Parts: sequence; structure tokens; C-alpha cells
Amino acid sequence: MVFNMAKGQPLVPALFIFGDSVFDVGNNNQLYTIVKANFPPYGRDFKNHMPTGRFCNGKLASDFTAENLGFTSYPPAYLNLKAKGKNILNGANFASGASGYYESTAKLYHAVSLSQQLEHYKECQNELAEVTGRSNASSIISGAIYLTFSYSAIPVSFRHVFLSTFTSWPLPRLSKTDMKFFKNLYALGARRIGVTTLPPMGCLPASITIFGSGSNDCVSRLNNDAVNFNRKLNTTSQNLKKWFPDLILVVLDIYQPLYDLVTKPSENGFFEARKACCGTGLVETSILCNHKSIGTCANASEYVFWDSFHPSEAANKVLADDLLIAGISLIS
Ligand SMILES: *[C@@H]1O[C@H](CO)[C@@H](O)[C@H](O)[C@H]1NC(C)=O
Ligand SMILES: *[C@@H]1O[C@H](CO)[C@@H](O)[C@H](O)[C@H]1NC(C)=O
Ligand SMILES: *[C@@H]1O[C@H](CO)[C@@H](O)[C@H](O)[C@H]1NC(C)=O
Repeated sequence: MVFNMAKGQPLVPALFIFGDSVFDVGNNNQLYTIVKANFPPYGRDFKNHMPTGRFCNGKLASDFTAENLGFTSYPPAYLNLKAKGKNILNGANFASGASGYYESTAKLYHAVSLSQQLEHYKECQNELAEVTGRSNASSIISGAIYLTFSYSAIPVSFRHVFLSTFTSWPLPRLSKTDMKFFKNLYALGARRIGVTTLPPMGCLPASITIFGSGSNDCVSRLNNDAVNFNRKLNTTSQNLKKWFPDLILVVLDIYQPLYDLVTKPSENGFFEARKACCGTGLVETSILCNHKSIGTCANASEYVFWDSFHPSEAANKVLADDLLIAGISLIS
């Protein structure tokens, strides 16, 4: 039903995206950071086989979401836009690889933190008003969907992977700062917010390699951390909804769908979930996944993971379909 509705006009006026590498569509290309993906084999299954900065072989879950909502193009990477103007009428993407709930890791990797992403969004609102007038801009702003996501703990592990001196993986915590992000987004006019949960962090190929003590099973400690975080996120969202009755805030669960893909790949049309496609599939991501990586698979369509942290396009499609069902109240 939703898919049919989406054939004509988009279901909402715009889609604004915040987050980290899971949603970054090229913002980090413009930054002085090692956390990049704008070189092959990234993007090899994307339009024109072009690397764009997406940490994936093809489309991200947010790209599929834009399609599902009826948009004919994806919200552009805000920092990539030379001319903003009409390009931002249907939304924009502020996500930056290695940002996340920790301002400190964003700083460490010279990424755009969530609070800086909000500053960019403020700028974007002014540009919208210039292009289409205050009144049109304000209906775009209040009607738009805001999708936000964070792997949060991953950037820390980047450092660990590079330095190989890891001992533990700091837990993401929902702090007052995180509440502030949602409050600020609301204060800026957002009324439809979808926030995705943490994935089963212990099932990412890199987690198993680094923390699995030689086993090929998901690391339950890390999965428990994610479950606890998600529970708090849920409570936070209930509180926010109490404070702001006109806010539609939906927690979009990606934990269970990704967990199912990893633990029962063949039931979902996949055959490889332990190893990622790129390189050995055990540790590589970002600059460690490049055209010289040895062992990269020929066809990622049956791999759950593209690199050792990031789902493949095929897995993203499954996740996006679940998001659509979970997020139905955002468009009704
Ligand atoms: C506001 O939107 C309407 C309908 O799309 C359009 O006709 C009008 O030109 C817009 N206003 C400005 C100032 O661009
Ligand atoms: C959040 O809470 C609701 C009900 O309070 C529950 O149905 C849902 O499964 C919870 N989601 C997560 C991710 O814990
Ligand atoms: C990858 O394999 C799938 C079937 O598993 C096939 O449909 C697709 O065309 C293949 N892609 C490439 C690039 O070979």
C-alpha cells in the first residue's frame, strides 16, 4: 500500500538525515579525516559504479528510505553542495562518518559531531527560506521526516583497529547531551523524527574478530550493551513524547532485523554473515578497504556486510523495508 502511494508525489515534503558513517553520503569527502569511503571498491554497485563517500558497495538504508517515500533523488550531502538553492528543497544529509553520540570521537577524527550537524541544519533552514520564502520553508520544516542514527561506539574502535591496543569498547551512554540533540531538533521545528536503535554491535565482523576470543559467534557482551542502550533510547523517546505532545517520535528497531540476518542468513537469501565482502572481511573498513585489498568478493549481493562494520546494499534493503513498516506513523 505504502509503495503504491509513493509512486506519484513524495509522501512528505523533505527528508533530513543526521548520523554517522551508516548514513554519510559524502560529507566526509570534504573533511580532513581518515574516515572516508570515496574510493573503490566503495560504490562499485552504486549508480555509474561511482564511489560517493557512502560506506557501502551500493545504496544505504536511508537511500532506500528516500525511494520508499517517493523521492526521485537522495537528500544530498550538505557539505558537498556548492550551490544550495533548489538542491535542498527536498531535504539534505548532514551525517558524517565517525561522528555519533560522542562529541570527543567526532573531534578525534575531525568529523562533524551531531551538535555541529544541527548548526549546519540551522544554516540550511535559512537557505531554504531564501529559496522558497519563510512560509513555504516552515511547512517544509514541519512536514519533513528527520532520520537520525548512530553506531556511536564504532569510531572508538577505529582507533583500536589502527593502533591495535584495544582492551575494551566504551559503551555508548544516553546522556543529557543526547536529549539535548532531540530537544534542539524539536526547537528548530522538527515534528516527525525517526531514530534508529543500535545494531547488534557484537555481530559486526570486526567485533567478532577483535573481541570474539577466536570464536565466530556474536560477542554477547557487546550485544547486551546495545540492548541496554536501546532500552534507554526507548525510555528517552517516551519522555520526549510526554513533554512534546505534537512530536511524532518513532524508535526504529534495526537490532532485531540485523540480528536475524546474521544468525539466520540463509532464511533471508544470504549465505555469508561472518565475513564482510571487502578484503579478508574480518577487520577492514574505510581506508583499509581499498582497491588493493586482497580477497574482496566478486558479488556482494549475498553478503550481509560490505566491510567489517557496514551492511551491504542487500542488507540495507532488508533493513529499510523494516524501517518503513516501523515508521509508518511518521507518514500518516
Ligand atoms: C511557495 O510555494 C508555492 C507552491 O509551491 C509557490 O507557488 C510559491 O512560488 C512559493 N513561494 C516562494 C516565495 O517561492
Ligand atoms: C520500546 O517500547 C515499546 C513499548 O513501550 C515496545 O513495544 C518496543 O518493543 C520497545 N522497543 C525497543 C527497541 O526496546
Ligand atoms: C550477483 O548475484 C546475483 C544473484 O545472486 C545476481 O542477480 C547479480 O546480477 C550479480 N551481480 C553481479 C554484479 O554480478
